[in-house]
Amino acid sequence: MGLDIAALLQRSQGQARDLHREHVNPKWMDALGLIGFDREYVRASGCTLWDGEGNRFLDMIGGYATCNVGRNHPVVCKAISDFASSQAASMVCFDAPLLAGILARQLKGRIGRDLDRVFFTNSGTEGIEAAIKFARCATGRPTILHETGSFHGLSTGALAINGCPSFREGFEPLCAHSRAFPRGDLSALEAHLAGRDVAALVLEPIQGKGVWTHPRGMMAEASRLCARFGTLLVVDEVQTGLGRTGSFLAIDQEGDVAPHMVILSKGLSGGQVPVGAVLCRTDVWERVFSRLDRAIVHSSTFHMNGLAMAVGLATLSVIEEERLCERAVLAGSRLRAGLDAIADHSPFISAVRQRGLMVGIEFAAPESPRLRLAWNLTKAIDPNLFVQAVTIPLMQRDRILTQVAGHAIPVLKLTPPLVISEPEIDLFTAAFARAVRDLETPGGPAWTALSAIAVNAVGAKWRSLRSRWSGDPSATGAHKDG
Ligand SMILES: Cc1ncc(COP(=O)(O)O)c(C=O)c1O
Repeated sequence: MGLDIAALLQRSQGQARDLHREHVNPKWMDALGLIGFDREYVRASGCTLWDGEGNRFLDMIGGYATCNVGRNHPVVCKAISDFASSQAASMVCFDAPLLAGILARQLKGRIGRDLDRVFFTNSGTEGIEAAIKFARCATGRPTILHETGSFHGLSTGALAINGCPSFREGFEPLCAHSRAFPRGDLSALEAHLAGRDVAALVLEPIQGKGVWTHPRGMMAEASRLCARFGTLLVVDEVQTGLGRTGSFLAIDQEGDVAPHMVILSKGLSGGQVPVGAVLCRTDVWERVFSRLDRAIVHSSTFHMNGLAMAVGLATLSVIEEERLCERAVLAGSRLRAGLDAIADHSPFISAVRQRGLMVGIEFAAPESPRLRLAWNLTKAIDPNLFVQAVTIPLMQRDRILTQVAGHAIPVLKLTPPLVISEPEIDLFTAAFARAVRDLETPGGPAWTALSAIAVNAVGAKWRSLRSRWSGDPSATGAHKDG
């Protein structure tokens, strides 16, 4: 009796596409279909996914960098089932949950830096929202400063400090008190801070959209400038934290950086249960939670829920016991060596950026006029198109998941689980080498895949324009075969 999830999954297998098209987000299904990513996976372990026919896929995306410990890690799965069968008193809300206290102590133990208070969240975005509020409250200043190209989430506060215009379109006006400065430009940063109206500078140590690293010493100098002008430094480690770049935090490799807040999420979840944390200096915290009647002036219902706390603790234990920071360094070096060798011989690859297992491979117009023509053509059709000439064959031919690093950014991004093995890295490198070599043959498989989606993309744009002109919404139904 009751719901049998395993049986439900079994008898519903193969229906995901149609269910999503009908009930969830048809446009997402169109986008996935266009690039051949509309698959239904039935099982996962480590870096591997399986579909219903038993095909194996190598996951080089890692759930947008959430699956640092690998998918379905037995320690994380055990924590989930132990917690569920423990009859724990979770979600009392008017209490002080024990596991939240233990997780807070453990996070502080790993991070130090005088970040003595921990606020738990359900996501990275919520961490950013909390940091914006805490910074305004603690400084009495209005402005939040961010870099061009930044990504900190998509709720309205986080979107106001999102440096990717494509995400903002249609949602303006956002907060008038957010400002951007050019990525990595310390003079521009100083000019903004000198006005002394900036509550917080929010920085990703490595920008996820495009995988842009900062020049050496930039983060430390930004930290010094913040201290000089009374601005709080908020470091967004949502993507870079929990071992991703080869150290527990990415700023551990950036010299003398003194954040007032550090935001964590993704990798803390074990790839399973939403969780996040804001680590905050006591002086900032005390200005926010300043009186008894403000004891929960910032909060949310689920933020210390027991399951999330248990999974956070299990994830930390795996990162430590399996030495995942060191593994990210070793695996990252092996991957980097393979990619550098490929880049040396490819007319299309202009740069490889890598720290641990956060990798961006940048493509640029080649010198040969024949190849340049093909490059320019795809760019003219759609600025997002070119990198798909690599992601599509990797998926279709080699069953490897990779992603484009952002809207109109010609960068392929890799954030595999940190448990990736040497054979898996070599498998990826060999497949990538072939995909990149194919780019040199206009009319070959890469370009065939591209022209197919170009035709679909043009078709979709045409249908969308037609619907706008005719007012007929049915005309927008873009489909991969359309
Ligand atoms: C650097 C960074 N900050 C914040 C976020 C938002 O996190 P979430 O999607 O968990 O809300 C993301 C998500 O990709 C991110 O990469």
